[in-house]
Amino acid sequence: MSAPRPRWRQSVGRVVRQLDYGAGHRWLELDVRPPFALPRPGQFLQVVLPPIASPVLLPRPMSVAGATRLRRVPGQGGGLRLGFLYAPVGLGTLALAGLGAGDEVEVLGPLGRGYPLDEPGTPVLIAGGRGVAPLLFAADALAARPRAGGRVRRPVMLFGARDRAHLVGLADAHRRLAALRGRLHVCTDDGSLGPKAHVVTLLERVAPTLRGPVVLYACGPHAMLKAVARWALARGVRAWLAMESVMACGTGVCRGCPLPRSAAARKAFDPSRTPSLHGNREWAMCCTEGPVFEAGELDWERIE
Ligand SMILES: Cc1cc2nc3c(=O)[nH]c(=O)nc-3n(C[C@H](O)[C@H](O)[C@H](O)COP(=O)(O)OP(=O)(O)OC[C@H]3O[C@@H](n4cnc5c(N)ncnc54)[C@H](O)[C@@H]3O)c2cc1C
Ligand code: FES
Repeated sequence: MSAPRPRWRQSVGRVVRQLDYGAGHRWLELDVRPPFALPRPGQFLQVVLPPIASPVLLPRPMSVAGATRLRRVPGQGGGLRLGFLYAPVGLGTLALAGLGAGDEVEVLGPLGRGYPLDEPGTPVLIAGGRGVAPLLFAADALAARPRAGGRVRRPVMLFGARDRAHLVGLADAHRRLAALRGRLHVCTDDGSLGPKAHVVTLLERVAPTLRGPVVLYACGPHAMLKAVARWALARGVRAWLAMESVMACGTGVCRGCPLPRSAAARKAFDPSRTPSLHGNREWAMCCTEGPVFEAGELDWERIE
């Protein structure tokens, strides 16, 4: 079987609004013109900043943190309203923060592989700092997908950050988990909210209290994802982790975003099934084969 055909498109995103989201983070909403496929949680867009607003040539990848379909207006078509949570830290994101309502950016997407949210088991969403972005969207998607019999799966979210202020989007996470009758547990490195603990310590405490098998969906700094992956691999627990890498094309062509495959993934490698151009046995391209990887697919010893 060959790799599925990519569904991404280039389109225009019009800024609806930008809000302060705490600890210097921003919440951005873009209305994206059709045709543009509805993203899945874990997928991302490449945002191309207008040259007049920014000295940045390459697009910046952004995880989708929320998506709603806009009503179809006769003659104008429908579209999507997409939400993003970002930190203005460098040239690209500072330029993005300078855009106001009505400004336009080019967008490419939806890109990459999202979280497989239909995996059996209790979903445990594990977020580190701004890594909460795709997991807010995952909580929405779980709420929108009742199982047979109309039952909604009740997820658990574990949310960690360096301090209380960096639990960005905590109120949103609370709201979305409450709608699902799910549980939210927080921890901080300095103990300013929740236990003074690492999110994996929280996982260790919470996992035995959950029903049946658990399936982990995580996003955050690579050090956190490494710890989650090792925890899961040691216990035979399925875990899906959203990775980041420096990206130029976002479509598997430039080879700029390699992540090392595990020995098992190198052995199982089949070039006809990889979505990256020609594929590579040693390296997986984060943009097309990820950004969501299963724990056993990557060599965590070689990931920084
Ligand atoms: C798949 C994917 C999804 C992503 N999703 C998001 C998202 O949802 N929200 C988001 O904010 N970012 C996200 N990023 C990261 C984002 O694309 C940018 O790389 C990052 O925000 C910095 O871009 P910049 O142009 O502002 O900084 P650059 O000009 O590229 O870097 C300038 C300086 O900032 C430093 N820097 C870069 N990133 C960070 C950081 N995160 N924290 C502190 N310093 C940093 C660099 O080391 C450098 O010194 C994602 C990346 C990938 C690959
Ligand atoms: S960003 Fe070009 S191959 Fe991934």
